Amino acid sequence: MKLTSRSVSPVAIVSTVAAAALGASLMLAANTPANAATTLGAAAAQSGRYFGTAIAAGRMNDSTYIGILNREFDMVTAENEMKMDATEPQQGRFSYGNADRILNHARNQGKRVRGHALAWHSQQPGWMQSMSGSSLRNAMLNHVTQVATYYRGKIYAWDVVNEAFADGSSGARRDSNLQRTGNDWIEAAFRAARAADPGAKLCYNDYNTDDWSHAKTQGVYRMVQDFKARGVPIDCVGFQSHFNAQSPVPSNYQTNLQNFANLGVDVQITELDIEGSGSSQASNYDRVTRACLAVTRCAGITVWGIRDTDSWRAYGTPLLFDGSGNKKAAYNSVLNALNAGGPGPGPTTTTTTNDPIPGGCTASVSLNSWDNGFVATVKVTAGSSALRGWQITTTLSSGTVTSSWNANRSGNSGTVNWTNVDFNGAVGAGQSTEFGFQGTGSGAGLNPSCTAS
Ligand code: XIL
Repeated sequence: MKLTSRSVSPVAIVSTVAAAALGASLMLAANTPANAATTLGAAAAQSGRYFGTAIAAGRMNDSTYIGILNREFDMVTAENEMKMDATEPQQGRFSYGNADRILNHARNQGKRVRGHALAWHSQQPGWMQSMSGSSLRNAMLNHVTQVATYYRGKIYAWDVVNEAFADGSSGARRDSNLQRTGNDWIEAAFRAARAADPGAKLCYNDYNTDDWSHAKTQGVYRMVQDFKARGVPIDCVGFQSHFNAQSPVPSNYQTNLQNFANLGVDVQITELDIEGSGSSQASNYDRVTRACLAVTRCAGITVWGIRDTDSWRAYGTPLLFDGSGNKKAAYNSVLNALNAGGPGPGPTTTTTTNDPIPGGCTASVSLNSWDNGFVATVKVTAGSSALRGWQITTTLSSGTVTSSWNANRSGNSGTVNWTNVDFNGAVGAGQSTEFGFQGTGSGAGLNPSCTAS
């Protein structure tokens, strides 16, 4: 007997529920499919994105803090420890102790690192604040070169220049000692960074550039457009996205990200925090997350701290975890939005039969890897008959699987076996479905093989 069944994609289920029940986080959690990712990093990885946080070296002995970091985030920014005053406290004497502590912890956990920041008018060491002219220009370029060389090969993206534009209606550069060395200081910094670490993405990072109609946004946009036109090496624009009642999430936030992406750069949300509480804060976080997911070149989101009490604006309770480390409504809204943006549309209709003729299946893997970690997306394709279920075997030559989605797993190192979950076992003849996992190590040689059932 032939039966046809219509299976609705889990993506559709999550987004419907999320739209209907934003703020009712318990209900949302109860309605989330059992196979949705349960951490921010894994949820973001489903669409090839990352979810990061800033951390402070001084808090790394706090086990609650480190526990949340290790569990939830797959990208790390040093909140202060890679800034100019921290890394070159005396001219020509570099100091990387706290920065290394953060970077090594992240990398040992299979997480990537955003470098923040090579050149900035603020948090300069005292010796630099009093410099000017060509000696300052040379000192700045030497700093960029030394720090980017020291971390060569270990940084996913550098904020090469931070906050170089003025607030207000001018759309012009901010006055600073660095700006007074000549308008080309920014491109000079980018060229030095590219030469020092050709593998790192190079970002310009700023705040109050989230609203497309603001003069400051337009000023940055014109600079990036000009850099792309003249071949100045820039790969990404960072939007700090510090929001509160005076500076709310703009209605054109997604358009703004898209407009920059259309210049041929990645966009990244680099320092997200949103003051507030309860469902209004949760809905703002939801909007920001969905805006990133809607822009193909939005590579990921970083929040500026873990718990409210860790924040530089603790009074505004702007983060995803409360002071005790509990998940807030804002956390649930971000997680659900990430899951809704999850594995992509996939097949919405699959046809299966009760008595399939075994036609076999094949599997292939696409890998997104970095130094000590990877995300693998495995594509399972039915042969000449529909599948009712499938089993995949992969081989990890090193490292372990740290999280996975859209498949059941047995084992987390060496030979790892995977089977379909409820919603993706039925695959029509010649059709495909995907599942994914994240792990430490290189992910080389996974060599998936497929058995139909
Ligand atoms: C902040 C840190 O969070 C604070 O601990 C420090 O006292 C000041 O700097 N824009 C940036 C970040 O690019 O580096 C800033 O971080 C917040 C605003």
